[in-house]
Formats: sequence, structure tokens, C-alpha cells
Amino acid sequence: MLDTWEAATKRALKAGFEIIEVHCAHGYLLHEFLSPLANSRTDEYGGSLENRMRFPLRVIERVRKTMPDDLPMFVRISAVDAMPGGWSQDDSVVFAAKAKALGADVIDCSTGGLRGYEGASFPGYQVPHTQRIKEETGILGMAVGLITDARHAEALVSANQTDLVALGREALFDPQWPNHARRELGQEVLDYSNWPIQSGHWLTGREKQLGHK
Ligand SMILES: Cc1cc2nc3c(=O)[nH]c(=O)nc-3n(C[C@H](O)[C@H](O)[C@H](O)COP(=O)(O)O)c2cc1C
Repeated sequence: MLDTWEAATKRALKAGFEIIEVHCAHGYLLHEFLSPLANSRTDEYGGSLENRMRFPLRVIERVRKTMPDDLPMFVRISAVDAMPGGWSQDDSVVFAAKAKALGADVIDCSTGGLRGYEGASFPGYQVPHTQRIKEETGILGMAVGLITDARHAEALVSANQTDLVALGREALFDPQWPNHARRELGQEVLDYSNWPIQSGHWLTGREKQLGHK
């Protein structure tokens, strides 16, 4: 089974990806091992927290060993199930510390996804998970969840509540969000050199016409 994770990692590297994220969230296989809501095994992969973490940690170890040392490995978790009897933030701290010891660089904190989510949702609602795990384990953190405003994202990073911010639905709403954020945060002239030439050409001209410096 672990060989398939190694093979998938090699395919991703061959395809040119420079980050590999091991997905332990949202009810996917590794989350099913972690969460007591889904894991009903009675062997060494079920029961205690240590047992439930065993397979995901073995995957993390194998993926890390398959990757070059200079490429970062992210681990995405549902930091809480937010359901009675589910995976907890305390569990996430333990898991992140063990993942870090195996070479994970970044913990990417989402929530829920197994059987729903009974927690509150507001801009940045998942950030406290990232922040606590960062503080208690020293791993780098990524925050996601209703972060839509550039100044909010910047404030979260500046306050060391997270190291990275990820966008989901806001990127659907505004695919140019990173460029718009750069302008909102003070970079007046945008660099269009990486844009499709037919767009970059027009927009570079527009910057001049608008008198931007
Ligand atoms: C169209 C769509 C597809 C998504 N697919 C995945 C996925 O495959 N794996 C995953 O972990 N999260 C997935 N997500 C969740 C996002 O990664 C993100 O955690 C979530 O949307 C909350 O962030 P947001 O408020 O910025 O959208 C998806 C979200 C959207 C909108």
C-alpha cells in the first residue's frame, strides 16, 4: 500500500510539482484512519490515538523519503471534526508534532468533512487551529477558510498567526486575487511579464495610460 503513495509522489515530481501535500483531511482515506468517528478498526491501526495516527504517519514518512530534501512537504488536516466524539485540536497538535519529526514542513489546517461540521464559520474561522499548532510544535502553518480580504491575509501573516494563506472560493470569485492583493497592499505597478502575452501587453500599456508609477 505504501508503494502506491511512493509511486504517486514520483508521478507528481515527474510532472513538475514543487510542493507535495499529503491529504489527511475532509473524510479522505487518511482522515478516516485518524478520526474516531470513522475508524472502527480493532487492529494496530484503530483504537488509541497512537494507533489511529500510525498509517497516516507511515504515509507521511514514505512520501517525505521519496521527495528531494529541498522541496517542501505540506500536510493537510481537518484540525477538528467539530462533531461530538470526533478528532480534536489537541489530537492535531500531537499529530502535527509527529509529522514535523518525520519531515513535514507545513501544516495546512482545514476542518470537518467527515459527517458535516457543527462549528461556526466567519472570516478566518480556521486560523486559531493553525496558530495553536504552530505555536506548540514549531511547524510552519497554512490557514484557509473565508479569507477574502488582502489586508486580513496580510495581518494574519504579520501577526505570525500563520505563515501562508490559501484561498478556495475567493479564487473562483476573483482568479486575479493575488495581483489585486499586491496592488491593494501597495505595489502600484503590476508586473505582467508572466501573463499571457496578449493580456500582458494590453495591461502594461494600461498601467502607463493610468499614470501609475
Ligand atoms: C470547487 C472546490 C473544490 C475543492 N476541492 C477540494 C479538494 O479536493 N480537497 C480539499 O482539501 N479541499 C477542497 N476544497 C476546499 C478548499 O480547499 C478550502 O479549504 C475551502 O473552500 C475553504 O476555503 P475558502 O473559504 O477560501 O473557500 C474545495 C473547494 C472548492 C470551492
